[in-house]
Amino acid sequence: MRDVAVIGIGIQRWGELWERSLRDLFVEAALNAIRDAGVERIDSMYVGCMSPGLFIGQEHLGSLLADYLGVCPIPALRVESACASGGMAVRAGFIEVASGLSDIVLVGGVEKMTDVSSGGATYALATAADAEYEVYQGATFPGLYAMVARDYMRRYGLTREQLAQVAVKNHDNGALNPHAQFPSKLSLEAVMTSTMVADPLRLMDCSPITDGAAVAILCPLNMANELSKQPPVKISGVGAATDHIALHDRKDFCEFSATVAACERAYKMAGVGPEQIDFAEVHDCFTIAELCVIEALGFFPRGTAGQATWAGETARTGKKPINTSGGLKSKGHPVGATGVGQIHELVTQLRGAAGARQVPGVKRGLAQNMGGSGGSTVVHILEVV
Ligand code: COA
Repeated sequence: MRDVAVIGIGIQRWGELWERSLRDLFVEAALNAIRDAGVERIDSMYVGCMSPGLFIGQEHLGSLLADYLGVCPIPALRVESACASGGMAVRAGFIEVASGLSDIVLVGGVEKMTDVSSGGATYALATAADAEYEVYQGATFPGLYAMVARDYMRRYGLTREQLAQVAVKNHDNGALNPHAQFPSKLSLEAVMTSTMVADPLRLMDCSPITDGAAVAILCPLNMANELSKQPPVKISGVGAATDHIALHDRKDFCEFSATVAACERAYKMAGVGPEQIDFAEVHDCFTIAELCVIEALGFFPRGTAGQATWAGETARTGKKPINTSGGLKSKGHPVGATGVGQIHELVTQLRGAAGARQVPGVKRGLAQNMGGSGGSTVVHILEVV
């Protein structure tokens, strides 16, 4: 297996981008990444996108986007794993480069979510839950994650303030990110008094509905310096895993066992443990998700992530900075693009190019991208060479 590097990244400011279509968003991010890498050809392409059929009435995305990017006749494939589609596209590209099948692979993610109403978006997103046993009974993702939050509060004594602090911390970071949908600071009071969505989760506990794309260019590590002037960032660990889609089938609502299995695989491949990770981008689709995930990744013991967040340990200046980009909460969550957006932030930080939100001296970062209420997860570990 060949070592794989990221040599280019591209994105745009995420948000409610009514004036641009899905293909415009993807091509813009792809051209930014191609320019960033300085490559003159692409051999193959993977695009993470959760539900273009429901959001914009378009399928057959691989070919459509290869055409609009002007790279036909290369092979191009859409990858779908709910909100983990982007991360899974990165994994697919990694495998293709590592295997020796292709040298320069474009991995991207895109979603155009705001062309439907809020109800339409909630319906499209809910198709990633178990249709027969959850959705037909009225469950939505805010509702499912609210049950996780209630269970966590009951078992570990998590306070409402500690939960809200996840959003406050992520907006503190997002306020420094020019690509964020909501680049504004948020007070604890603003989170705690925002509109109730699904008790105990309020509007400011939820990631928003977002349009956006992100792209990365991968190549063999030993060809990186010849192909690009950018300092290569090595993908040293990759792990993916699945779990029951339906929350009620799980033994433990708060465990997120697909994340546990995925990170074990990634840590093993990279030859490191959670202590050696300098910072991480994790899937905070709801504030409670961030707490469960950073425990599943082994950063904090079970039941303690709320206290650690409250104590500032996950802040940009803390001992384990989490979601320096602003996370899904402030940067936005165009579901198929989110996993590639996380890779964009890791590479930016590892290049030392994150400006005001730069964490000094970071050498190794982790990205965790999750589908639905945790039915699929993919973890990548990236490091400076
Ligand atoms: N931070 C700051 N402001 C936000 C925000 C955020 N994260 N999310 C929304 N807002 C603002 C909007 O800009 C809007 O402001 P305006 O009235 O001044 O325009 C207001 O809050 C209401 O937002 P809107 O998008 O109209 O709310 P909504 O009721 O349509 O949707 C949710 C709110 C929570 C239901 C929706 O965002 C949602 O479903 N989020 C979860 C998405 C999800 O499940 N993703 C998959 C995860 S597995």
